[in-house]
Amino acid sequence: MKIVLAYSGGLDTSVLLSWIKEKYNAEMIAFCADIGQEEELKGLDKKAMKTGASKLYIDNLQEEFARDFIFPMMQAGAIYENQYFLGTSIARPLIAKRMVEIARKEKAQFIAHGATGKGNDQVRFELTAAALAPDLEVIAPWRDASFRSQFPGRAEMIQYCADKKIPVEASAKKPYSMDRNLLHISFEAGILEDPWLDAFAPENKAMFKLSVSPEDAPNKPEYVTLDFVKGDCVAVNGQKLNPLGVMKALNKLGGKHGVGRVDLVENRFVGMKSRGVYETPGGAILHFAHRQMESITMDREVMHIRDSLIPKYAELVYYGFWFAPERLALQALVTESQKDVTGTIRVKLYKGNIMTAGRKSPVSLYNPHIATMEADPTKAYNQDDATGFIRLNGLRLRVASQVHNAAKKK
Ligand code: ARG
Ligand code: SIN
Repeated sequence: MKIVLAYSGGLDTSVLLSWIKEKYNAEMIAFCADIGQEEELKGLDKKAMKTGASKLYIDNLQEEFARDFIFPMMQAGAIYENQYFLGTSIARPLIAKRMVEIARKEKAQFIAHGATGKGNDQVRFELTAAALAPDLEVIAPWRDASFRSQFPGRAEMIQYCADKKIPVEASAKKPYSMDRNLLHISFEAGILEDPWLDAFAPENKAMFKLSVSPEDAPNKPEYVTLDFVKGDCVAVNGQKLNPLGVMKALNKLGGKHGVGRVDLVENRFVGMKSRGVYETPGGAILHFAHRQMESITMDREVMHIRDSLIPKYAELVYYGFWFAPERLALQALVTESQKDVTGTIRVKLYKGNIMTAGRKSPVSLYNPHIATMEADPTKAYNQDDATGFIRLNGLRLRVASQVHNAAKKK
């Protein structure tokens, strides 16, 4: 039997590799996706072999992540519960998709992951597998009571590695859990479980990796221009970039000015509330600028329909239904809505804030002559028309009011 395991080389997945191999007497294929987590991948193959893998795949998926996952989601304006930019959620279907591909190539019948069994990630991995490879079976040791009782804590894991001569760095455990990729870093659990704890307080500064705190950001604002073509950012400060390049450039700029930090209590798909802290510097700028671009290029009714679908789209991403027919159907609507979202946005970054500093487009629908308070040379709008417009829109309100007032008098 062959099993493909999502593997990082850290304590948890090292234990998993060895434990699964022994329990199922299986050949283990380890897989590590490089999605911009900036972890040392050198030497990982040796580590995986020593831990018991017969092979390690390390795939750099950063470009695909930016192009086929982050950008389409940005076009949709997706944001979960009005605050979360979905940095972890959007990465899971990509990782699972690649795992499925590897399983196919290796003729493996199983895939395994180290998600805790209490969260969203397990659902995202497995729904993706269900959509792409319904015959593959999933092994999730954290949902196995025997695994949980063998490893009630970190100490047991470290001891297990020592016993089995599994190479792991006994790095001090962080008092929270982190997940990093090209779009964000998430922090949750541990000390953050107290929702009253101020994650942005000076004493917690060291937690953040992608951004400075707004208090420490430069005292001078910085202007950034973003060029869009059909809803995708194609250049930053005039420099043409692919989606990966855009993310890297914006992360740097946003990080420098402390933008994109979020702290919320969110609703997990499995039912519980969970506190999450995030830094999403580039994603926050992109999300903001994209909406500004839409503001001058998108038809009102198209925008209102698309906007009404943002909570639904974000929920689908958060829940793990990326490869589901309803997400694809929504995406088709989103793509259609973006066909004129082209032009340039200028933003000002200053101490944690992103502000609009200008917008222009060759296909702008904004016409100052129509909106002006001065005389309109285009004659597109005749004020007299407003009288009838309002009278007809008020018709049913007047009728209802008359009826109710008459009834009250009786
Ligand atoms: N709560 C966020 C989400 O569900 C972040 C999850 C972080 N995952 C992790 N394995 N640390 O998308
Ligand atoms: C986990 O449970 O593995 C992390 C948190 C989550 O998936 O929501």
